[in-house]
Amino acid sequence: MDKRLNQDFHFERAGLRLKNRAVLAPLTHNMSQDNGDPSRAELDWLARCARGGFGMLIAAATQVQPGGRCWQGQPALMTDAQQAGFAELAQQAEANGALALIQLHHGGVRAQPALNGGAPVGPSAMAAGDRYPLGVQALTEAEILGLIDAFVRAAERAHGAGLHGVELHAAHHFLLCNFLNPLLNRREDEWGGSLANRARLLIAIVRGIRARLPRTFLVGVRLSPESYAKVQGISLANQLALAGLLAKEDIDYLHFSMGDSFKEVDGDRGKGSLLTAVHEGVAGRVPLMVAGRIRDADSAGLALAGGADLVAVGSAAIGNPDWMQKVSRALPLRQPPFAATLLTELGFTASALDYLGSLPGLVAQNEKVGAL
Ligand SMILES: Cc1cc2nc3c(=O)[nH]c(=O)nc-3n(C[C@H](O)[C@H](O)[C@H](O)COP(=O)(O)O)c2cc1C
Repeated sequence: MDKRLNQDFHFERAGLRLKNRAVLAPLTHNMSQDNGDPSRAELDWLARCARGGFGMLIAAATQVQPGGRCWQGQPALMTDAQQAGFAELAQQAEANGALALIQLHHGGVRAQPALNGGAPVGPSAMAAGDRYPLGVQALTEAEILGLIDAFVRAAERAHGAGLHGVELHAAHHFLLCNFLNPLLNRREDEWGGSLANRARLLIAIVRGIRARLPRTFLVGVRLSPESYAKVQGISLANQLALAGLLAKEDIDYLHFSMGDSFKEVDGDRGKGSLLTAVHEGVAGRVPLMVAGRIRDADSAGLALAGGADLVAVGSAAIGNPDWMQKVSRALPLRQPPFAATLLTELGFTASALDYLGSLPGLVAQNEKVGAL
């Protein structure tokens, strides 16, 4: 049977059902408190998305350990207060028949020195230069073990908050992705070298979570299929081999952050779409979620027809937290760039607008553009 956006989806290993195939992609909004506590504004915005019909919500990249912070208003899940804050997200999701996950994150080489009081950490040391003004410090073995523990403890807190699962952020040149990248990971111990060694950190986190939490708790992994933002070293062939390793672990889904779900494979013009390559590479061994230019019913339908089991909606959801309701009823969607006044009405704060405005094409300079 053809997969449809409004068709339910069963996470078989966890025994959890999604009411539809539409997922709110993790969206950093820069509106948590300075100490990482979730703010009223961010919880309200996520609640709005829960009411808006998404079957599943993935809350933004969330710190698990000091030292990996990338944004001033980045949330964290390291304290009782933060756990209590995210319990409200779980309740809002339940009340709307949706599942809510949180994305666990460490910025790695992309962590901001000014927000962390020093140089970022990564798999291997790097000298100071344009991209890394303070250089990068290599993690010690003991620090790697501490990091695994921090991810697992954050997952326990997510479970304690009543959330349905976690997504491990191993994409976009952040720490877990840095370990996967052979150009950045030059370690000669068991955490570097072969693919199995480079994936050891990610897999240790998955296993650590599985050892501590009930099987009903969802664990997904987000990957970049190709190099990201001009940082080389992540290749489709390697990432598909990694997908094979991860499919043997007890995970619930793989989430490929495609940038553009309908693009061709990098450096492989005319040889077919990235979506087809990812679909064929994953080969049904684990549910496949994709994000990237899922804007409306047509693009969601194309991605599902192309092999995705679930589609994650990013930019379009910023101006349409009720995206799924609109799409289900064939109502028009607001198009980006979104007017700042609209985003304010939807609950984005001034610091969120600052951040969203720094990304291309999201916030209209001219207030009339993009408003519906
Ligand atoms: C404002 C904004 C914030 C984002 N924050 C995150 C994040 O916290 N974690 C993540 O993995 N991706 C993040 N992304 C990437 C999105 O999840 C998504 O993959 C990307 O926007 C492509 O989908 P789209 O074409 O539907 O926007 C963000 C994107 C945007 C526009």
